[in-house]
Amino acid sequence: MTLEESKFAGGVAVITGAGSGIGAGLARRAGEVGMTVVVTDINAAAAESVAEEIRAAGGKAEAMVVDVSQPAELDRLAEAVFAKHGSVRLLVNNAGIETLGFAWEIPAERWEATLNINLHGVIHGVRAFVPRMLASGEECWIGNLASVGSFGMMPTQSAYMVTKHAVQSFSECLYLEMELKKAPIHVASIIPGMMKTNIFNADRGAGEPVDGAGYRKTMHDMMAAYGMDLAEGCKVIMAGIAANNFWVSSQPEMTQQMLAGRIAFFSEQATPTLNEQTKQLLGVAD
Ligand SMILES: NC(=O)c1ccc[n+]([C@@H]2O[C@H](COP(=O)([O-])OP(=O)(O)OC[C@H]3O[C@@H](n4cnc5c(N)ncnc54)[C@H](O)[C@@H]3O)[C@@H](O)[C@H]2O)c1
Repeated sequence: MTLEESKFAGGVAVITGAGSGIGAGLARRAGEVGMTVVVTDINAAAAESVAEEIRAAGGKAEAMVVDVSQPAELDRLAEAVFAKHGSVRLLVNNAGIETLGFAWEIPAERWEATLNINLHGVIHGVRAFVPRMLASGEECWIGNLASVGSFGMMPTQSAYMVTKHAVQSFSECLYLEMELKKAPIHVASIIPGMMKTNIFNADRGAGEPVDGAGYRKTMHDMMAAYGMDLAEGCKVIMAGIAANNFWVSSQPEMTQQMLAGRIAFFSEQATPTLNEQTKQLLGVAD
């Protein structure tokens, strides 16, 4: 029996944004290691199709439509899952969107959507599930989706970066709160480097400024060329969660590189500087 199976088999996993990408990959992996998977997404057909895939592979899964930008929907989800299953062993607050474009050109609605999905979705997932997890008294795990972007800076991605910095901070404080309470809840900051998903697909960019489409295409092509295989990355992530790690990176060397840059930036109190790699990526000439 693997560590993942010993910790997770027989438990319930709830994953947001699990109709695509990393959420779907983690849902499939949770099914493989013997969990009952509640596959939630704002997109009903996508959630149902991932749940069906898990069932077809011999696992247990059900789909639910949940929009994480609405706190009440996360309350409804927690209530329904605990009423049906009695406990939750793994919650992954995964749903997220990328937003490309200059900060002042992003329309208010897109700013709100990015903050509500990427940051408030994580916060309210925790707010809705933790009281019930604590009441169950059982050992359980919460993984929140940060990013290597949590430790960097990137022009044309301010909306996304600000949410990922905030999610990292939220998970650090949440971890300490569990320590203070001596709660049997493990908190993991999940830090994908670059994994092949649909996050930069053109259809994910509705409401972005016109310039955003070009930056989105650049990122899309980079992900297609250099992104990590999704199933492989999700195996690494689930193993890291099962090992009770706080830092759970798909590509630890990328995390290390971003952290080294951040540490130097802070210790030198450096001025933000456009590096060559960023200039090249954004097609900026000197
Ligand atoms: N792919 C990467 O390399 C990478 C890197 C760092 C962080 N991440 C993070 O991983 C998470 C998943 O991203 P992905 O790359 O798999 O993207 P993806 O676009 O493939 O999947 C995101 C899923 O979230 C769903 N979603 C969007 N809005 C929602 C809402 N309001 N409520 C519920 N579901 C909603 C979408 O329908 C989609 O199924 C995000 O938080 C993202 O920031 C991804």
